[in-house]
Amino acid sequence: MIEHPASDQRQSLEADARLDAGLTVRPATMADLAVVVELRLALLREHSQNPIYRRLRPDAPARASRLFAAQLRCSSEVTFLAESDGVAVGVLRCITSAGLPLLFPARHGYISSVYVVPTARRHGVLRALFTAAIDWCRARGLREARLHNAVENETANAVWDALGFQVVEHLRVCHLS
Ligand SMILES: CC(C)(COP(=O)(O)OP(=O)(O)OC[C@H]1O[C@@H](n2cnc3c(N)ncnc32)[C@H](O)[C@@H]1OP(=O)(O)O)[C@@H](O)C(=O)NCCC(=O)NCCS
Repeated sequence: MIEHPASDQRQSLEADARLDAGLTVRPATMADLAVVVELRLALLREHSQNPIYRRLRPDAPARASRLFAAQLRCSSEVTFLAESDGVAVGVLRCITSAGLPLLFPARHGYISSVYVVPTARRHGVLRALFTAAIDWCRARGLREARLHNAVENETANAVWDALGFQVVEHLRVCHLS
């Protein structure tokens, strides 16, 4: 649910209805670079307890601009933006990725950088982004989607279970002295 004070229930329901009615999903373009950077850095900042993602570089915003611009230009991937009445509320990136050479399938869709702004959560924004990503994969002949999520992220664990993703591997990290 969108979070509102309990005393403001009617206003909250009206805001919820507006979000549900006005939600659209489209591929981001270079004109969206600033908002893509903002949403994806917010995602990293929400993972400040994770052993990998907490090590954000001080110059991450400048690096993000350069990197995400290159990604937006790349034809083998797409960044979807969810908007509520024209305001960006979520992002999801999907990349055509090669599988292991000895195994089927040769290619799969790899989903990353999934973020919905806190005030828009639990309104199907991710479901809408995910539907767009699955359509994009199917249109390219991809029959499998994969992703990683932070192990301590209970919400992500619940979300990907709900959307049909099995856990098939664990990523382990060992810090070497
Ligand atoms: C994870 C996240 C993207 C979900 O976005 P969302 O728009 O709120 O998700 P949806 O409303 O589309 O929910 C889809 C389903 O996931 C499950 N779900 C969503 N949020 C949940 C939560 N907090 N707890 C348990 N299940 C949840 C539900 O089954 C939900 O379906 P339902 O609403 O019909 O019951 C959002 O919480 C987020 O941005 N979190 C911070 C960043 C993050 O963790 N990203 C994931 C990185 S892998």
